[in-house]
Amino acid sequence: MNNTIFDFIGGTTGDWKIIKSTTLIGESLPKVTHVDKIQSSLINRFEGIWSLKGVISNLRYTEKAEKDKLTAKQEDLGRKKATYAAFIPIRKNEAWWNLAQDERRQIMEKQSRHTHHGMQYLPAIARQLFHSRDIDEPFDFLTWFEFAPEDEPAFNELLSKLRQSEEWEFVDREIDIRMVRV
Ligand code: HEM
Repeated sequence: MNNTIFDFIGGTTGDWKIIKSTTLIGESLPKVTHVDKIQSSLINRFEGIWSLKGVISNLRYTEKAEKDKLTAKQEDLGRKKATYAAFIPIRKNEAWWNLAQDERRQIMEKQSRHTHHGMQYLPAIARQLFHSRDIDEPFDFLTWFEFAPEDEPAFNELLSKLRQSEEWEFVDREIDIRMVRV
């Protein structure tokens, strides 16, 4: 089975206990206390309250020089010291999806400097992007970040930069779920 498909299950048990959940825009998710992130191939039954599915996919906008820098600087998920995590499902509006690929890249990088800003927060923040739009899910992206508790202020600073950017004007649903490893 494909090991790049993941299920994020919100419920009353799981590996990650929710500390805080904030709906920034759009509809919320039903209230839960825990989140589990599970490879779809390992799931045999679903006992949660909600479940969101995402796929690890190819890069869409990253240029070679950026990819090389990211690869050199980033760290993997699952580090022992990274006991905090953020799960942020995001949807972008139709205006975004009606743009051409080069227009979207222009907004993400030339104007919003997403990768440029993000890179300053590596390796403290480990991250994984999951795509959901093409598999008929309620969000377009599921984003997952892991960091040590002392790096939470830096993570919040990055989010605040991104949320003020032109790219975020296209975001029409966003929920920011913060967790601690159980
Ligand atoms: C920690 C540092 C970060 C770095 C280095 C980073 C880097 C990147 C890169 C390189 C891409 C483009 C992937 C591609 O080529 O398809 C991307 C996409 C994305 N990132 Fe970040 N990012 C960071 C933090 C964040 C944060 C805090 C958020 C907020 C939730 C976020 C949300 C997204 C989303 C939603 C996409 C997909 C955008 C789209 O395809 O329209 N990223 N990120």
